[in-house]
Amino acid sequence: MSDQNVFFDYINEGYKTKGDALTMGAAMLDGTTVTNALVRVPLKTMNRHGLIAGATGTGKTKTLQVLAENLSDAGVPVLLMDMKGDLSGIAQPSPGHPKIDERHEAIGIPFEPKKFPVEILSLSEQDGVRLRATVSEFGPVLISRILGVSETQAGIISILFKYCDDNKLPLLDLKDFKKILQYAMEEGKAEIAKEYGRISPASAGAILRKIVELEQQGGDLFFGEKSFDTDDLLRVDENGRGYINIVRLTDIQDKPKLFSTFMLCLLAEIYSTFPEQGDSGRPELIIFIDEAHLIFKEASDALLDQIEAIVKLIRSKGVGLYFVTQNPTDVPDAVLSQLGLKVQHALRAFTAKDRKAIKLTAENYPLSDYYKTDEVLTSLGIGEALISALNEKGIPTPLAATLLRAPMSRMDVLEDHELEDLIGASKLIKKYNKEVDRESAYELLNEKIEKANAEEAKEKARKEREETKRSSSRRRSSSRSRRSSRSPIEKVLTSPTVIRSVLGILTKLIK
Ligand SMILES: Nc1ncnc2c1ncn2[C@@H]1O[C@H](COP(=O)(O)OP(=O)(O)OP(=O)(O)O)[C@@H](O)[C@H]1O
Ligand SMILES: [Mg+2]
Repeated sequence: MSDQNVFFDYINEGYKTKGDALTMGAAMLDGTTVTNALVRVPLKTMNRHGLIAGATGTGKTKTLQVLAENLSDAGVPVLLMDMKGDLSGIAQPSPGHPKIDERHEAIGIPFEPKKFPVEILSLSEQDGVRLRATVSEFGPVLISRILGVSETQAGIISILFKYCDDNKLPLLDLKDFKKILQYAMEEGKAEIAKEYGRISPASAGAILRKIVELEQQGGDLFFGEKSFDTDDLLRVDENGRGYINIVRLTDIQDKPKLFSTFMLCLLAEIYSTFPEQGDSGRPELIIFIDEAHLIFKEASDALLDQIEAIVKLIRSKGVGLYFVTQNPTDVPDAVLSQLGLKVQHALRAFTAKDRKAIKLTAENYPLSDYYKTDEVLTSLGIGEALISALNEKGIPTPLAATLLRAPMSRMDVLEDHELEDLIGASKLIKKYNKEVDRESAYELLNEKIEKANAEEAKEKARKEREETKRSSSRRRSSSRSRRSSRSPIEKVLTSPTVIRSVLGILTKLIK
């Protein structure tokens, strides 16, 4: 048997699956594509997360597009974090190209141009379904992590959440959160101190400054109603194809803090609402994060810990996370070690540092009789990648230099009018894009302060009248509730908000 035949059998055996699988392309040997030596990723292990890495322009985003399309075809909904705005073309079929036909002939699978069901979402004022969450939903633990506050300040945040819970003051947006802090420093100082313990104005001031910082990154757009229901990410169209939900994030590149906040919130929400998956053999939702280095860039250690924890846990909910980035080292080791599928596009060896990185990357791949991994890494062409997946038993598949299939949808972006039509036809827009600012902590506290001021003025007038009448009765009526016998910390720990706080529970789980 020739080398090629042996290799063909080796790949076919290594990538054999019983259940459904996604075909990514055909394996290559000595730079030549071996037709029909198909590299297939079992649907069953797609919830084991993955990495798509490689130098700029080598085809990472197109690989993401190929995976998203094939998942959709298999009935699995997808969520794409589109940093560069180059993925909207998925909603239109590929115009085709002789080069694409050539590619597919070499691989051994037909090329079938088609479009996919797409929903456009947005975190800011860009067009698309608005993604929002309320401050209460985050809970005090997560909010504290996001703001990066000290332990003492986190304690204050817990107390204020508890106060708002007890007094039925909904914390919806950052305006509400700032108001309660101000209230705690000024008008409500005595009242809160009596019931929950004294709040240091310096700490409250420090928290306030952190909120303003988050607001300046656009956090005010993200916090509020109507809060996004993550079940809406799980839609399937009338033909049984999973929706590809694209979050347009082109305006978030310079706001990494807002982005990591959003990602963590989304993952926490998914973790807390999705049911535990048995061995269903198919994922519930696959999330791709293009330009993933942005999440990790400015995240605090506390936030990174939470992201690591949730990556570990979310798998059991049938959710797979795929990080797309230039260099594998952009992703923290603790996350990297949890990734099942690895698609490594070409790396460039310009400097000594590059060569070192290539050596390191090569060492992280399974050994192969067929490839010198470090050499292959620098010689891969565009739209080619080294792949290592997990087979249905969870064991790494043979390493395969792969000629990747082309996206079935358009590789270019939608025209403005196409985007408008797509957004115009969205059912979710009607559900989420109405501005709501219902009565919440901000309005209710303002009302309370006004009422107190009015009462104070009335009281003053009454006293003056009484003074003139030389009345002896000077007793003030006190309608305050009885002081609770429980200690402040006990009260905080039993607060519904604390219990609701998903990540508080998570932290306990992983310790
Ligand atoms: N699988 C593929 N089939 C056909 N052409 C491809 C494929 N992958 C990449 N290409 C070609 O390479 C170009 C660059 O690919 P892509 O935008 O995916 O690179 P990238 O690695 O994401 O780059 P960047 O780091 O700049 O975002 C594409 O516009 C396309 O022409
Ligand atoms: Mg890209």
